[in-house]
Amino acid sequence: MSRTIDWDGDAVVIVDQCALPESYRTLRLTTIDELVDAIKRLAVRGAPALGAAGALGVAMSARLHRGPGGTTGATDATNAVAADAERLASARPTAVNLRWGVERALAALPRGADAVTAEAVAMLTEDELVNKQASRNAADLVLRHCSRRPLRLLTHCNTGRLAAVDWGTALGVVRHLHAAGHVEYVLADETRPLLQGSRLTAWELAELGVPYRLLPDSAAPAAMATGLVDCVLVGADRVAANGDVANKIGTYALAVAAARHHIPFFVVAPESTVDRELPDGSHIVLEQRPAEEITHVAGTRVAPQGAQVFNPAFDITPAELVTAVVTEHGVLHVRS
Ligand code: MRU
Repeated sequence: MSRTIDWDGDAVVIVDQCALPESYRTLRLTTIDELVDAIKRLAVRGAPALGAAGALGVAMSARLHRGPGGTTGATDATNAVAADAERLASARPTAVNLRWGVERALAALPRGADAVTAEAVAMLTEDELVNKQASRNAADLVLRHCSRRPLRLLTHCNTGRLAAVDWGTALGVVRHLHAAGHVEYVLADETRPLLQGSRLTAWELAELGVPYRLLPDSAAPAAMATGLVDCVLVGADRVAANGDVANKIGTYALAVAAARHHIPFFVVAPESTVDRELPDGSHIVLEQRPAEEITHVAGTRVAPQGAQVFNPAFDITPAELVTAVVTEHGVLHVRS
């Protein structure tokens, strides 16, 4: 299976990201409960993949509730799908793509379950095309901004094919640049506490044959200070109208360090990640994750009983620290 998330008859099929890198396996989800649970425990994750999950979830709900004639017209059924849609959309609060995907599929509900399914399935193909174009635009910009060849790139979290239906965003830029022979290596932040960098990005870079080194998130500023980084590439979960960016916790610290060392800092995302209704990043809801993600490592307690925890899954990087936000339509925001 090349797609991270797909539709199979009446089921949503996902690559189980909790099992990687030990095992590459798929899960077949046939109920809304299963899909919401998979979203919450990050078995499917990454903003573009969450958009697809939301849309396919509405399709699944519309099919589960459709009447004998194949329509979902009855008020009870419509209300049931709307309730499922809200559960899906609120399963994680920060990535705007999730609610965007849900609402786009839901808009087709008056035309019946097959129309919802067709819309959701079309969004899968679209996701790959859009992210390929956004990362192509960003790759061109990187080549214009950075003179050194080959390039030494630094990235955070996982923004590859595992974070989307296929291809990816910031890691999609690495794919374009690597294919053109422009990548010396990628420094991949391990991405505490859930290790999307070491579990997923390292796995993808190995799959692509891109030379890489893992580093603790806290080593990234030192790597910049010692001249090991030409450019930083990250994705986004939500971009506000003014260019403020919500992304995986640690992104803000990276942007501060990059600015300190005059290293270009690029954000790559599809338009569906841009929330023009929010004037700035202060309005973005940042997901708080369970304390156990910090108090335990691989199931073993590493903090005293009763330790209080601050565990936001995301942070806000102000637009002034971002060199450019790049989408499939081009450069959305450039630091002035
Ligand atoms: O908590 P996650 O793993 O869903 O967080 C993912 C990120 O922060 C990614 O950088 C973002 O969604 C962009 S993915 C192309």
